[in-house]
Amino acid sequence: MDVDVVARILSTLPEDDDHPYRTGPWRPQTTEWRADDLDVVGEIPADLDGVYLRNTENPVHPAIERYHPFDGDGMVHVIGFRDGRAFYRNRFVRTDGFLAEAEAGHALWAGLAERPSLSLRDGRGARGGLKDSSSTDVVVHAGVALTSFYQCGDLYRLDPLTLETLGKAEWHGDFPYACGVSAHTKVDPRTGELLFFNYGTDEPYMHYGVVSADDRLTHYVDVPLPGPRLPHDMAFTENYAILNDCPMFWDPDLLKKGRHAARFHPDLPLRIGVVPRTGSTVQWFEAAPTYVLHWVNAYEEGDEIVLDGFFQEDPEPRDVGDGSHYQRMFRFLALDRMKTKLHRWRLNLKSGRCREERLTDSVTEFGVLNARYGGVGYRYAYAATGVEGWFLFDGLTKHDLLTGKEETYKLPPNVYGSEPAMAPRAGAVDEDDGYLVTLTTDMNDDRSECLIFDAARPADGPLARVRLPERVSSGTHATWAPGDSIPGWRTADSPERAVRLA
Ligand SMILES: [Fe+2]
Repeated sequence: MDVDVVARILSTLPEDDDHPYRTGPWRPQTTEWRADDLDVVGEIPADLDGVYLRNTENPVHPAIERYHPFDGDGMVHVIGFRDGRAFYRNRFVRTDGFLAEAEAGHALWAGLAERPSLSLRDGRGARGGLKDSSSTDVVVHAGVALTSFYQCGDLYRLDPLTLETLGKAEWHGDFPYACGVSAHTKVDPRTGELLFFNYGTDEPYMHYGVVSADDRLTHYVDVPLPGPRLPHDMAFTENYAILNDCPMFWDPDLLKKGRHAARFHPDLPLRIGVVPRTGSTVQWFEAAPTYVLHWVNAYEEGDEIVLDGFFQEDPEPRDVGDGSHYQRMFRFLALDRMKTKLHRWRLNLKSGRCREERLTDSVTEFGVLNARYGGVGYRYAYAATGVEGWFLFDGLTKHDLLTGKEETYKLPPNVYGSEPAMAPRAGAVDEDDGYLVTLTTDMNDDRSECLIFDAARPADGPLARVRLPERVSSGTHATWAPGDSIPGWRTADSPERAVRLA
């Protein structure tokens, strides 16, 4: 391994920190690395070609009062694979908030678990008063990696190979700064478009938009809702965008007093909104009440839209008082507490009715697919399994949605994974002809590896384990970008050279 320290970031976190989401598998990193020719156990497939990008929360300063894991500053990791070799880079996203707090030497914004009035500066987010830490998702659009925030915020643009922050998405002056963009955007691999929505506390409470493959805002419409809502994700088909109004939202009475308390309303349905991708009239469907954090995919079939996602059987887990203070405080982050199960909604565009069915009794979440099948008929979903009581992943499951067959690979005890990504093999014909990639946080050996699985047979275990220079923090979302989606990739002999060629 050829490794350099690029930078060390000054942290003011205490040496004896005891917050569970800033220690152990969530211990933040402060070092930025550049590593080439990573050491490998096994063999990196020569036809694995592209980059796995993963966002993580890496707090640098103590919270003003109470830290929530979604407050941490965004740090993106990239593992690139080319010709059977691998490189690694990690960088903090140089957000406005990260830079301002670096200058101040302490937290300037109240986090998700704190009162907005504690913020020392004007902030962002649907709630307002938050630091836009850009630590939730990462996608690649128009050859650039875009990081996003848990609530609505800016999209930060990063070079997908060096992870240098290039600025914010501007869309030639049309970026909707007032509302921002939600955590999850969707890139359609067939058109190269980026689909997005945002939400807030002012009417119409939601907007939906489309950005073209050449990075111009081509569509932006109001999506009126009955009140402020907290949607997290969206889906799309070839002709439609799919939005949602889940019955989990800020208590309206407390909201009038400036308090932001999310409550589940089991007496209200889940409403799923279908809008033509370039239209503005939303057709709403009602379904059984739940909160859906993440959808997997959607596609058109006759008069119906088939929509798959994770149904929460218990969106508001009760505090049963048998865990630690932190386990109780963060019970909303544990998959087993929310009982997240893969579910299918069938939306009939003619009758306006929704039929739904649970696809499995297994508890999984953070589902991904071969992105070439985004928006069209597909068969396989790959999802993470969770550690009881915690926001940590202990394995991955391949769901065969045609046969109902599942196969699971469990990581060894005290080893945690990241949201997997599916990397289609160069020249693949079959949907599951490719690789699954995930990063580990290994508490037994105090290190991290990138594991590569055969996507057709993940339960057989990893084909290769690629060593990283330092143990990385657990985190949130990840993505796969094929080499041919990155400018200069094919002709470059190093990531830095690819940037110069582009
Ligand atoms: Fe998410």
